[in-house]
Amino acid sequence: MNWTVRLAVNGEPRTLALDDPRVTLLDLLRERLHLTGTKKGCDRGQCGACTVLVDGRRINSCLTLAVSLDGAAITTIEGLAQGDRLHPVQEAFIAHDALQCGFCTPGQIMSAVGLINEGQAGDDPERVREGMSGNLCRCSAYVGIVEAVRDAQATLTDKERAA
Ligand code: FES
Ligand code: FES
Repeated sequence: MNWTVRLAVNGEPRTLALDDPRVTLLDLLRERLHLTGTKKGCDRGQCGACTVLVDGRRINSCLTLAVSLDGAAITTIEGLAQGDRLHPVQEAFIAHDALQCGFCTPGQIMSAVGLINEGQAGDDPERVREGMSGNLCRCSAYVGIVEAVRDAQATLTDKERAA
């Protein structure tokens, strides 16, 4: 038996036949679509390395069955930059040296984009830390991560005001 799921992945319509309804969005992205920027850390909802946006909201893709997302729009780390122009959150992570090994970074960045979209980032470091608490960093780059999120939030708010 086959299950079909239609997704828009980084703006591109995809129709995918699954032979197992238990395939997670994470495995679908990495193994079928070769979008390996989304990382598999714990594979059980504890580390946030697999964070992507579904219809603009952040989720742990390791906990989400692909078949449950028929019709959804998925954004992964590969979909953030526009050509050579990085997303402001990506630029802020570089500017604030918010990574060491980089394994958690795609998930951190997607989570930050989601947090800012939700209007929940604010300028308070404690609030940012709380909002990003589902994303663990084994290298403990948290100081830079919080600064990057605050900086990106300010940049994006300024852009909104100017628009
Ligand atoms: S791999 Fe999904 S939360 Fe860790
Ligand atoms: S930069 Fe290494 S796990 Fe976060």
